[in-house]
Amino acid sequence: MRGFGWTQNVVAQRHCAFVGCRARAPARRRRAAGDREAAVTVTDSSGAGSYFQLFDHSVRADPYPLYERMRAAGALRLPGAPIVLLTRHADCTAALRDPRASSQNSMPRLRFALTPEGVEVPTNLVAPRHNPSFLFLDAPDHTRLRRLVQKAFTPRVVAELAPRITRFVDEAFDRAAETGRFDAVEDLGYPLPITVICELLGVPLEDEPLLRRLSAALARLLDPAAPTEAGFGVDLADMITAREELDDYFDRLAAQRRHDPGPDLLTQLIAAEDAGDTLSHSELIATCGLLLIAGHETTVNLISNTILALSRRGDVLAELRENPGLATQVIEETLRYDPPVQMMPRVALETMQFGETKVDAGEVLMVIIAAANRDPETFAEPGRFDIARDNRHVSFGLGAHFCLGAPLARLEARIAVTRFAQRMREPRLVADPPVYRMHVNLRGPAALPIEFDGVQAS
Ligand code: HEM
Repeated sequence: MRGFGWTQNVVAQRHCAFVGCRARAPARRRRAAGDREAAVTVTDSSGAGSYFQLFDHSVRADPYPLYERMRAAGALRLPGAPIVLLTRHADCTAALRDPRASSQNSMPRLRFALTPEGVEVPTNLVAPRHNPSFLFLDAPDHTRLRRLVQKAFTPRVVAELAPRITRFVDEAFDRAAETGRFDAVEDLGYPLPITVICELLGVPLEDEPLLRRLSAALARLLDPAAPTEAGFGVDLADMITAREELDDYFDRLAAQRRHDPGPDLLTQLIAAEDAGDTLSHSELIATCGLLLIAGHETTVNLISNTILALSRRGDVLAELRENPGLATQVIEETLRYDPPVQMMPRVALETMQFGETKVDAGEVLMVIIAAANRDPETFAEPGRFDIARDNRHVSFGLGAHFCLGAPLARLEARIAVTRFAQRMREPRLVADPPVYRMHVNLRGPAALPIEFDGVQAS
């Protein structure tokens, strides 16, 4: 059993759950850092084997049968690793509400637990220059930082963004009318949320290509994988450089805003920093990075997953066109059926019990909300896309870390898909299934080209 002494200069002294799973095969190999051999060879169809199969990109179009197998096994400890998978709705909701299930250090611990024996975890990946964002903190720091940011996302502030969002969406469809081409990711799902979050934060839009590149590299950090590029298609060097570049970027922007304040969230956070010890500089930079990435890397998937679902279900699309008031139900059902965030880690601070599985203090809980959302104990016919259902999905999390941006994400998605239904004539998928992003955790298509017979004037 590996130790959990978490130091900043870690050389892993443990064996990997991932490799541990493969260890049953005679040809077990230890992977060294830099070894780019494709690692996913698990063919076993047990719950644990299914977890590792998630890393195989070929399952990305439909990972849900794998989640079903995991869920059938209940709360499931990965063989040889201090990681327990929670996949049932009752277990996931209990863990998310329980303060003994800690967010602090959960991601490094998960990664540490998955690191192959002998592989060095790069110090600057696990111990970056700045604090972790409040997504990965517990009370009281989490509560203090969350409170500072929360006022930027009140229902009133968010509702005031509606006209701006509608204008943006209509311009996207006007362009589709002119060019005859539309990609739901490239032309709408991606640019809408990044523009909105940049405007809220006070990030100049001309920097968007830079931020897009950095954010794409960093979003892979949310994947529940080992910190090695072997097998996961992750460019580790890119991630480390991206984190440093993003920190430098917000350092420079904060310095500018100090001289030249604006009507933006960054200026408000700087004022909080200047007013005393409510927010340190390091916390300011980490919070900006969190908002930038959480603000768009998720919503792009919600918009494109919804357009994908509607393009597959002409009957629902027709209903929505007739009755735009159904958009909320369409969005909520997409959140359940195909959640943009699939899972998140926690660390047990004390002994915890999930069904028959005892979890020891220090063990990692992998809360797989994508599996909970299809638990037949909670949702009748969970594999059916049904906008009429009573929807108790957990796609924005629950409890202390409940998504701060949920009202904004819902508003952006609601306007985008309502206008899609109203304006696109006879939309059809060019490819089904589409090509998916590499990410395991942040789930959505890499591109979603749509053919159509014209665009209704706005
Ligand atoms: C469809 C879009 C979105 C989805 C599915 C989503 C999902 C989530 C989930 C599941 C969590 C909880 C993580 C945990 O418990 O460990 C979370 C937290 C968070 N989200 Fe979102 N999110 C979305 C959009 C946004 C947007 C637009 C923003 C900001 C503008 C945002 C900001 C945050 C922040 C700051 C947290 C951390 C909250 C905390 O730790 O207290 N999210 N999100």
